[in-house]
Amino acid sequence: MSSLSSIPAVDLSYTPEVARATAGIYGRVRDVIPEIEWPVHAPYVDAINRLKAEKNAVILAHNYQTPEIFHGVADLTGDSLALARMATETDADVIILCGVHFMAETAKLLNPSKTVLIPDLRAGCSLASSITGADVRLLKERYPGVPVVTYVNTSADVKAETDVCCTSANAVQVVESLGVDRVIFLPDEYLGRYVASQTEVELILWHGHCEVHERFKPADIRQFRSQYEDLQVLAHPECPPDVLAEADFVGSTSGMIQAVGLRKPKRVVMITECSMSDNVAVEHPEVQFIRPCNLCPHMKRITLPKILESLQELRYEVTVEPQIAERARASVERMLAVGRGEKVTS
Ligand code: 13P
Ligand code: SF4
Repeated sequence: MSSLSSIPAVDLSYTPEVARATAGIYGRVRDVIPEIEWPVHAPYVDAINRLKAEKNAVILAHNYQTPEIFHGVADLTGDSLALARMATETDADVIILCGVHFMAETAKLLNPSKTVLIPDLRAGCSLASSITGADVRLLKERYPGVPVVTYVNTSADVKAETDVCCTSANAVQVVESLGVDRVIFLPDEYLGRYVASQTEVELILWHGHCEVHERFKPADIRQFRSQYEDLQVLAHPECPPDVLAEADFVGSTSGMIQAVGLRKPKRVVMITECSMSDNVAVEHPEVQFIRPCNLCPHMKRITLPKILESLQELRYEVTVEPQIAERARASVERMLAVGRGEKVTS
C-alpha cells in the first residue's frame, strides 16, 4: 500500500457514517468481499465517491478490476471497446482510467482536451510491450500495400503506424471491413489465429502473447469438465488455440459477461483473469463460478489508495506527443467508425 503521509487530510477511519454511506455497495458485493475486509475498503470507497463528484471526474474501470473498485467506485465499466466508446461520451473534466496504460492512452487520444489519469503509470501489458512503432514500419516495408490492423493493446506509437485498430470484441468485423485478401494483424498471435479461423482473409501475424492467458492449458479445462457436470466454458481469445478448442464460447470480456446472462448456465468457468468471475458473480448469484486464477499483475497495480491519491493530486496524467497522437487517433476512430457501420478504407 502506498504511504498515507502524502495524502492531504482525509479521515480514513471506518466510522458509523462511512458504514452507512457504503452499506448499499457492500450489500451487493458481500458474496465476493469478506465482511472482515470491508472496514478497510469502505473509507476509501466513500472518500473517492465524494471527491470524484467535487472534481467532476468519472471513473472508467475495466472488467478485470477488483470488486471493490468495479462495484465500489467505478461509474462505467466494460471491455476495451466499451471503455474507448465511453471515453468519447463523457462530459466529465477528468477521466480516471482504472485499467492498464494502453486503455488510458486510448481515452486520451479520443479526448485530447480532457485530463486523463491512471493511478499507477507502471500498469503495462505484455502485448503492448511486445512490439514498437519501428517493428511495424519494418513489417510495412516487407509487405508493401498490405493494411495493418492492430489490437488496441498497443502503444500510441504502434497505433500511429496502423490503418485501423480492433479489440477482441470486433476483430473479425474490422479485418473484413477492409475488403482485402490479406492484412498484417498485430501483435497478439493467438487472437490472430482465432480471427483467422473465423474469416477467409489471410492474416500475417506477430508473436506477441498475453502473459496471463498463455498460462491456461487444455488439460485444465478437461480437468474441470471431469470434476463438474453441466459446466459452460467461456474463454478469452487471447488464450492459445488448443485452449479455445476446448471452450463452449469464445469472446471478449464483455462478450463473456453477456454469455453468462444469455446462457444462464448452472456452472461456468471463465478462462481469463481472476477478478472477472468475482465481478460477474455479483450479478448472477444463482450461477456457480469455478474460479481458476491467473492474475494480471498490471491490472492489479490499481488499488483504492492509489485511486484516491490520483484524484487528490490529479496524477498520473497520460499524455501523447501531438505528432503521434493525430495518426494514432485516426486508427482508433476508424475502428469506432467500423462499429457504426461506416465504410473504412485503408
Ligand atoms: P477485452 O477487450 O476483452 O476486455 O480484453 C482486454 C484485455 O486486456 C484482455 O486481457
Ligand atoms: Fe495485457 Fe494480458 Fe493483462 Fe490484458 S490480461 S492487460 S492482455 S497482460
